[in-house]
Amino acid sequence: MSNSLLEIIDIYKSFDIKEVHKGVSFALSKGERIGLLGASGTGKSVLLRSIVGLEFIDQGRILYNGERIDNLSEKDYPRIRKSISYSFQSGALFDSMNVFENLAFPLFEHTDLSLEEIDAKIHEVLKLIGLEGIQHLLPSDLSGGMQKRVGMARSMILNPDIILYDEPTAGLDPANTVNVVKVMKKFSNTGVTSIFVTHDIPAAKEFCDRIIILDKGHVAFDNTIEEFNNSDSPIVRKFLVTEGFENAN
Ligand SMILES: Nc1ncnc2c1ncn2[C@@H]1O[C@H](COP(=O)(O)OP(=O)(O)OP(=O)(O)O)[C@@H](O)[C@H]1O
Ligand SMILES: [Mg+2]
Repeated sequence: MSNSLLEIIDIYKSFDIKEVHKGVSFALSKGERIGLLGASGTGKSVLLRSIVGLEFIDQGRILYNGERIDNLSEKDYPRIRKSISYSFQSGALFDSMNVFENLAFPLFEHTDLSLEEIDAKIHEVLKLIGLEGIQHLLPSDLSGGMQKRVGMARSMILNPDIILYDEPTAGLDPANTVNVVKVMKKFSNTGVTSIFVTHDIPAAKEFCDRIIILDKGHVAFDNTIEEFNNSDSPIVRKFLVTEGFENAN
């Protein structure tokens, strides 16, 4: 029995003739901060979506706490999605609901907490994201960066074991990017395990303790952030050139 929280074991996934994953494997331990990198189209989002059952793999296995979760029925996924939270790029707040209602929604759906307890929980999570006292505001009253952080708070509110962040800093200016990374660190410090999909290499370096690079359907690199920073491997160099962070020469 392994100690891994999440195991991706030799997964394959194609769309028609497009082979996206051709034997992808890696495992996550509790509390890790993984950066999942790779050029556009290498299957990062498909992998995250496969973990929470929004996409189905063709071959291989995905285990959460040793339980197979890649072949569950739709009625079993809500339980998994409480423990493994997929943080959508858009944040996906309900426009007609204020911040309190947006954050209370998953709590009403999935818990038996009293209104008082919900109130306290929302206060706590807003404090964590540095946005206290905005319960009564509508998403349209918030800046894009604030909306993003409220969306992240909603991903965190059911105390998941794992959060999957799909490009949470995409389209944000440097100041808001810093705030989003800060929020991810605060969540991580509460013990949640993270997978951070991004093209923002500086943000990945700031947040992650381990980097995985997908290339041509495989895991091309899987090592510590220190190894990534100091690596002169052709794989890492090719990736940095493709992403525009280094010049080819
Ligand atoms: N539902 C789908 N039907 C057909 N092809 C799909 C579908 N979803 C993804 N793909 C294809 O699978 C490949 C991987 O897509 P994915 O969205 O995972 O890439 P990505 O690594 O997240 O890229 P990006 O960095 O641009 O977000 C792409 O070629 C994409 O076009
Ligand atoms: Mg993607």
